[in-house]
Formats: sequence, structure tokens, C-alpha cells
Amino acid sequence: MILVTGGAGFIGANFVLDWLASADHGSEPVVNLDKLTYAGNLDTLASLQGDARHVFVQGDIGDAALVGELLATHQPRAVINFAAESHVDRSIHGPEDFIQTNVLGTFRLLEAVRQYWLGLGASQKEAFRFLHVSTDEVYGSLSKTAPAFAETHPYEPNSPYSASKAASDHLVRAWHHTYGLPVLTTNCSNNYGPYHFPEKLIPLMIVNALAGKPLPVYGDGMQIRDWLYVKDHCSAIRRVLRAGRLGETYNVGGWNEKPNIDIVHTVCALLDELRPKADGSSYATQITHVTDRPGHDRRYAIDARKLEAELGWKPAETFETGIRKTVQWYLANPEWVANVQSGAYREWVGKQYGASAEVGA
Ligand code: NAD
Ligand code: TYD
Repeated sequence: MILVTGGAGFIGANFVLDWLASADHGSEPVVNLDKLTYAGNLDTLASLQGDARHVFVQGDIGDAALVGELLATHQPRAVINFAAESHVDRSIHGPEDFIQTNVLGTFRLLEAVRQYWLGLGASQKEAFRFLHVSTDEVYGSLSKTAPAFAETHPYEPNSPYSASKAASDHLVRAWHHTYGLPVLTTNCSNNYGPYHFPEKLIPLMIVNALAGKPLPVYGDGMQIRDWLYVKDHCSAIRRVLRAGRLGETYNVGGWNEKPNIDIVHTVCALLDELRPKADGSSYATQITHVTDRPGHDRRYAIDARKLEAELGWKPAETFETGIRKTVQWYLANPEWVANVQSGAYREWVGKQYGASAEVGA
């Protein structure tokens, strides 16, 4: 079996669902350790209720005793670490949680895993893997014309979030070089798709558009992100887990660089087509430019050629197919959206956009 951390969040939950649905892995159980912060949501995993292949445990990756006990009990052949505080804007308002989970939590997890790994028999020890899921944001910001991030790009994190992720990547690297722990690291670009918490750009725009609320674009909206459909990300992680070279990092991207404003217009156009407004106007009329994020990185772009050349991975979705599926998913799942818009969510939206902006829930 495998141990997944953060498997009630956006990417981790998609990973667990896809893993258990896949022909290759469906018979291999998953232990899912998640603290259930505001971003963790068991509704996403509702289809696994009563399924013996999925064992959910609420807890913290920083709780070494708990992690040690889980490892000893379930004897996983791999640990895949998704658990993190993941939202840049929240890291600007309150960086402490990011240091606790992303830095200290990863450290404690690595130590617990190392103790477990040291106690394994020779063949299990050799087969064991610790896969750490990270971000392209550790590389900092690119100019318009600079080449996309390769794995050799220097680390230049600019936000408390990306700095904490960079620190975690360095710890993972050091645990390999110093202790021999068999690690793999993936650094991916911005994900989108089903079950994405509506504090992030794409789901926020869909949810606000449908609610008749403003669509808050930071600054000029010309910041560029490289969008990756979450299910493509999950398939890349499965590939790296199976065949990645020990101690290596692999960049995962969708070859979809787009300015934010184009993303918002695409979402509006899809909603105009799939759920036209009664008055015939476009959702694009709700777009509002708001104050920019402090220290806002201008451009991210991933060069995913290493993953393709070494492991034969390529994304299955184009942005056009992936964004259509995503908008369709949100239209088909209003209950999921309503359930995540809890008190904590409303509190965040008020803090970030101001009560008068009337965005969010
Ligand atoms: P998310 O915020 O949706 O989910 C994070 C999950 O981790 C939540 O379920 C939360 O409850 C859990 N968690 C938080 N602190 C924990 C702790 N101390 N112990 C155990 N569980 C804890 O994040 P996501 O978008 O699913 O991202 C998953 C991983 O991928 C993160 O490491 C993130 O840095 C990385 N990543 C995400 C993106 C993206 O676009 N979403 C891009 C690049 C990298
Ligand atoms: P986000 O989804 O927060 O991801 P990240 O900051 O990790 O890239 O934001 C994606 C881009 O969208 C980023 O450039 C910030 C911008 N953005 C807005 O313009 N408005 C918003 O309300 C949000 C949440 C993000």
C-alpha cells in the first residue's frame, strides 16, 4: 500500500481517486493522512466511503508519533507528500502556518519516514520511495522572454509560500544526499480541474460569475501562469513514482502559458455558452481590476522536457479541453461548492477582498 499525505486537498484527493480507479493501481490500498485544514474536504472523497482500499486518518504530518505508528502499522512501499499550506495570498496575510507545515512538518515527516525506512528488510528498503510534491514557484519569476524553468534553474522564491516550499525541497534533497533516503521531487505549474477550492483563480471566477459577483483580477491581469490539468499532474506523479531516478527532480507542466486575464475571459465565454445569463449579457461584464498582490510574480513557465524524454510523460489535455471539463464539472456539482463555502471560507473572502467587494460566498 501507499501513504498519501494531504489527500483531502485538491490535488491529493484527485490523486487518491484516480489511483483507486486505475487499472494499474486500483488493487493497492491508500492510507490517507490529512489534517483537514480549511482546504481539506472529505466530501471530495465521499465516493470512497465504505471502500476498504481507502483508510482515512485525520492528523498532522508534523506529528512524528502518529506518522511513525501509521508507517509501522501499514508498512507502505511509498509515501507521497501533498500536505502543505498552498495559497500564496494566505501566506502573505499569515506566514506562520506555512513555516509550521511546509518546513517543520516536512522535516518531521522525513525523519519519521527515515526511521521506518531504516528498519525495512533489504528488498523493501530498496523498493521504497518518498515522493515530494512541490511547485514551480520555488524558481521565482521569469521575464517575458526568458526560457521556461528547467530543473537546473536556481531557486529564487519570492513569497512566504514559495520560500517555505523551497525550504521543504531542500530538506528532501538533503535527506537523500546525507541519509540515502530514496526520494523523488516533482515541481509542477498551476493546476486546475475538479474539486479545486474556490479561493484560487479558476474556481473563484466560476463560482463568482455564477453568483453574479465581481471577478477580481489582480493588477493588469497580464501575469502569466502555465496551466496543468490536475489529472495530468496525477498521471505524471504515478509515472515518476514508478520510474523516476532516485534523488532527481522532475518539472511537470501543461505547456499552457496564459495571462490571467485570458483565463478569466475563457471562463466567461464557456459560461456564456453553457449557462447563458437570463439578460443575455456576458459574464465578462463582471470583471473588476483590483489592487495587485504584493510581490506578485509576473510569469511562471515549465519546461517539462526532462519528464517527457526520460519517462515518456506528456499531458493528455490541452487547455481548451481541460478548462471545458472543469467548467462543466463546477456546473454539475453545485452541492460540492456550497459545502466548501463554510464560515471559514467566507471569513477569508472578507479579509482578502473586503466586505464591500461582495465576492465569494
Ligand atoms: P490544498 O491546499 O488544496 O490541499 C492541501 C491539503 O493538505 C489539505 O487537505 C490540508 O488539509 C492538508 N494539510 C495541510 N496541512 C497539513 C498538515 N500539517 N498535516 C497533514 N495535512 C495537512 O493544496 P493542493 O492544491 O492540493 O496542493 C497539493 C500540493 O501540491 C502542495 O504541496 C502544493 O504546494 C503543491 N502544488 C500545488 C499547485 C496547485 O496549483 N494547486 C501547484 C504546484 C504545487
Ligand atoms: P492562484 O490561483 O492564487 O495561484 P498562484 O498564486 O499560486 O499562481 O492565482 C493564479 C493567478 O491569478 C495569480 O497570478 C494571481 C491571480 N489571481 C487574481 O488575479 N485574482 C484572484 O482573485 C486570485 C485568487 C488570483
